[in-house]
Amino acid sequence: MLGNDVPPTVAECRVCGGAVQECLDFGQQPVSSAFVDPDRADAEVFFRLAVGFCTTCTMVQQLEEVPRDQMFRLDYPYRSSGSAVMRKHFEQTARHLLETELTGPDPFAVEVGSNDGILLQDIANAGIRHLGVDPSGGAATVARAKGIRVRVEFFEETSARAIRAENGPADVIFSANTISHIAYIGSIFRGVDALLAPNGVFIFEDRYLGDIIEHTYFDQIYDEHFYLFSIQSVQAMAATYGFSLINAERLSVHGGAVRYTVARTGSREPDPAVAELLAREHALGLGTPDTYERFAANISRTRDDLVALLHDLRSKGHTIVGYGATAKSATVANYCGIGPDLISAVFDSTAEKQGRLTPGSHIPVLSPEEFGNPYPDYALLFAWNHADEIMAKERRFRENGGRWILYVPDVHIV
Ligand code: SAH
Ligand code: TYD
Ligand code: ZN
Repeated sequence: MLGNDVPPTVAECRVCGGAVQECLDFGQQPVSSAFVDPDRADAEVFFRLAVGFCTTCTMVQQLEEVPRDQMFRLDYPYRSSGSAVMRKHFEQTARHLLETELTGPDPFAVEVGSNDGILLQDIANAGIRHLGVDPSGGAATVARAKGIRVRVEFFEETSARAIRAENGPADVIFSANTISHIAYIGSIFRGVDALLAPNGVFIFEDRYLGDIIEHTYFDQIYDEHFYLFSIQSVQAMAATYGFSLINAERLSVHGGAVRYTVARTGSREPDPAVAELLAREHALGLGTPDTYERFAANISRTRDDLVALLHDLRSKGHTIVGYGATAKSATVANYCGIGPDLISAVFDSTAEKQGRLTPGSHIPVLSPEEFGNPYPDYALLFAWNHADEIMAKERRFRENGGRWILYVPDVHIV
């Protein structure tokens, strides 16, 4: 436990119905992407951010579900295409899909959580039948302007059946950084079952629990990341709904992710990579309570070190800002108690976040164009997963004597 007073609870696993044992409690947290209008700062919604693991299927999951329309709606501000590294990643992913699963006569590809069309744009440009499904209307408008077909709604069993009735079966259902966001996972798999062609594949990639624990990426835990997937728990989840995990591939994006391929049980041979990654994963002890006690201790230490460093620098008169108004930073700022007294502003390239305040912590979000007038002494890099890209872009900050503060895998200055 992370030093909170609330006693640990046991909940029912959203995948298998087994007992979920609470292991982390970050206390009250805001909706991580609900950036605040400065005139309406009193209208925020908070929830208890607590995580547990299922003692039956090992799935790591949250104990409280935030209603989905409070997270994903017209004004959801996240835009996938803000990173050149992610644009390249999805360009390669689209090419891979075009060369493997989308080669038959008139193939059909569906993406769950298509956001601003970062992946589907290359599939649309190749003239392939496609459909994005995403409830966040603002992001969908950006995708449509690129010539992509999008349904603005939540993918689930009912919408999947409607898509099947209108378009026929899908050869591929792809999803990135979205399936782990969906607590009602049974409805997703029933929807995939209804929509997918008999020999089709459901491919999804999400942050990897192994990396999160190994590198103390505690800020990957926030409302949207309802599940923290591992190879073992995804294999068990697929099996619960009549599917099998037939491939798994480690990815370096977002600090470490895995791309899972599932197919109807018996329809395809599993790749040896699944057994290899599973064997490696067993060594990480992702199913044992000790692992989570160690993780909790590492998280508390990071918080203490970070808060001490920021107070020390401020007491010496140094200026500190944040860089990257990420969803991840909501957990860091609110769990560590970091507000505008320690960090005067957060710089972020997303137009939809600028001019607003960070959720819960109420730090003003400004455009990166204002970062250099004048440069601060220190910048806390909340978007550490984009470190190379941001540090290259903001080269002049260091040349002017500025220093970056990182808090993963531990607190350090570069
Ligand atoms: N695939 C993109 C976007 C990830 S952000 C990327 O990897 O960068 C998660 C997206 O999932 C958001 O755009 C959100 O609106 C969408 N989403 C959340 N629940 C969904 C659901 N049930 N069906 C379809 N999209 C969903
Ligand atoms: P990201 O780490 O992708 O996601 P999450 O919100 O899920 O934690 O968010 C990166 C944020 O950083 C996003 O708000 C855009 C911003 N950003 C910049 O300001 N400049 C950049 O060069 C890049 C790559 C991102
Ligand atoms: Zn379970």
